[in-house]
Amino acid sequence: MDLSEKFRLFRDYWSPKIVGELNDSYVKLVKLKGEFVWHHHRDEDELFLVTKGRWFLLSNVPLLGALVYRYVDRRLPGARTSAVARTRLIDDEWRQAQRDGIRQIVILGSGFDCRAYRLSGEHSPVVFEVDRPITVASKRERLRGVLRTIPQNVRFVEVDFNRQSLGEALTGARFDSSVPALFLWEGVTSYLTPEAVDSVLRYVGSTSPGSRLVFTYVHSGALDSSMDFEGAQRTIHDVARLGEPWRFGLSPDQVPDFLRKRGLEPDRDVGAREFRALYFGRDAERMKGYDFYHVVTAHVPGGAQRPHPE
Ligand SMILES: C[S@@+](CC[C@H](N)C(=O)[O-])C[C@H]1O[C@@H](n2cnc3c(N)ncnc32)[C@H](O)[C@@H]1O
Repeated sequence: MDLSEKFRLFRDYWSPKIVGELNDSYVKLVKLKGEFVWHHHRDEDELFLVTKGRWFLLSNVPLLGALVYRYVDRRLPGARTSAVARTRLIDDEWRQAQRDGIRQIVILGSGFDCRAYRLSGEHSPVVFEVDRPITVASKRERLRGVLRTIPQNVRFVEVDFNRQSLGEALTGARFDSSVPALFLWEGVTSYLTPEAVDSVLRYVGSTSPGSRLVFTYVHSGALDSSMDFEGAQRTIHDVARLGEPWRFGLSPDQVPDFLRKRGLEPDRDVGAREFRALYFGRDAERMKGYDFYHVVTAHVPGGAQRPHPE
């Protein structure tokens, strides 16, 4: 659907038009001018996409910002603090890889990840941003709006992990599997079929010795309700209602074997409680929830020794 064409069909402000329906949700277009009073509907979730103009969020104002944080923390316990700490952990892995001379970074299911634009620095690695075509298109458009031109070191690769071969798509994008790369796979495995997770990990495990992988997973005990994690059932319910259910998880005790069978050597597996403690220190003791969320680092054996995690 060409949104700009649809927007040209009406002029009035504050009058939403339904232009489509997807997974029990409406796609509505609206032109806004002036102040929008933020509110929510008890039985509905809403996602806003600004295609033109600016939306100034009052949550950036210090006192209101604190209220927004409190609301988010109550609704999704631990999600925000877990995301902040794991972003930092993965940023550190990226920086370490660059210091160690890795010159190719593959962001799997990159979504709106901005590391390629935040962290590339002086010796820019080639960054492959891999996602489904619809997400890639939307990101390119947003990036053009913000950066004007997309940096030359970034290559977009369109792949549906559930249906296509990652190896073929990366080869087509001139990925060099004969030299080590860093693969990031943050916030994605839970949405995939077990076959897709298997296929991606086998491909990563077949790349050059010394390649590194950072990925996240959801504890399978939260998905099958065999373990009681604070806030887990609500989060699982919410993502399912948004039409993107979590369906894949792992148990920490199966991770080492699971990786070795796919050509990868595990380095560490840290749950939200631990990675929050790494970056928030003692404040992390007050941060509850999202303990079912894990970050794993691993590598393809046979290359240069990985530095020991700090
Ligand atoms: C929760 S977002 C995470 C985005 C990003 N990695 C981050 O942490 O900010 C999940 C991403 O996985 C992508 N994704 C989900 N299923 C996929 C599939 N079958 N093939 C490729 N990408 C997929 C989505 O398009 C989305 O960008």
